[in-house]
Amino acid sequence: MRFAGKRAVVTGGASGIGRATALRLAEEGAEVLIGDVDEAGGGALAQGSGGRIAFQRTDVTKVDDIAALVAAADAAGGLDIMVNNAGAGGARDPIDTISADDWDRTQALLLRSVAMGIRHAAPLMAARGGGAIVNTSSVSALGSGYAPTAYSTAKAGVLHLTKMAAADLAQHHIRVNAVVPGFIATNIFTASLGIAGAAQQQANAMIAAGAAKAQPIQRTGTPEDVAAAIAFLASDDASFITGTSILVDGGLTIGPRHSWDPDTPSLFAALEAFAK
Ligand SMILES: NC(=O)c1ccc[n+]([C@@H]2O[C@H](COP(=O)([O-])OP(=O)(O)OC[C@H]3O[C@@H](n4cnc5c(N)ncnc54)[C@H](O)[C@@H]3O)[C@@H](O)[C@H]2O)c1
Repeated sequence: MRFAGKRAVVTGGASGIGRATALRLAEEGAEVLIGDVDEAGGGALAQGSGGRIAFQRTDVTKVDDIAALVAAADAAGGLDIMVNNAGAGGARDPIDTISADDWDRTQALLLRSVAMGIRHAAPLMAARGGGAIVNTSSVSALGSGYAPTAYSTAKAGVLHLTKMAAADLAQHHIRVNAVVPGFIATNIFTASLGIAGAAQQQANAMIAAGAAKAQPIQRTGTPEDVAAAIAFLASDDASFITGTSILVDGGLTIGPRHSWDPDTPSLFAALEAFAK
């Protein structure tokens, strides 16, 4: 019960990583307010939570919505934990064709939302003597090949924002950290491509099967894997940790595939065979 007596806000809490985080925090004693554009999903989660999770419709691209979300948590008894997690794939165009509007929309969804989440949560936390903020970045912040350019750039921004905010807010006893998920089986892939209904289930099954083989730990990464890291960073177990991030990627970014997959030969192995 690491979060007994604490109140948390989780954006994007209606699905995937945010949903698992809301459930994990609530399971460990927190009262959780989730903000999401998905009213059906958010409402259903709140309804089935026995009063531990509440839902407020929130579009994180709207600063007023974010301010209203954290204000609601504060009014209910104070804000201790803020998880800036909501997101979607954003614009998929490469840099030589993307429009300025699509670029701005993607940054507003994935980077400005996190900045404004921190901006509006921090003063409320500071007034209570401190708090913990956790932001969701992505392995796409670390290199190419994981996600589109606008998304990946925003997620890299989230990592640096995490450090800058940690520096700004340490004096108020607010810790700021990030999680860096790898390939996690959620609706984000199908939602970003507009795949819905029965086709979504089929596509999600394909994604889960692919995700099981994508990294050295050969199983599908789950929202609960990431929620566990978020809960750790939000908890007093991490009370000396700020301005950093935890990779939750099953080893995806350890190195090239041939370094961990015996079925993928390296160029060096081919040269060794040639030399014999
Ligand atoms: N799934 C992965 O492999 C993966 C990897 C790295 C990072 N992430 C990040 O994890 C976070 C959660 O994604 P997920 O995988 O759980 O996906 P998901 O689609 O299951 O959940 C995302 C949630 O965000 C909500 N959302 C989208 N736009 C919103 C908006 N404008 N305002 C409020 N809510 C909005 C959606 O309705 C949804 O409930 C995202 O920031 C995503 O970029 C996911």
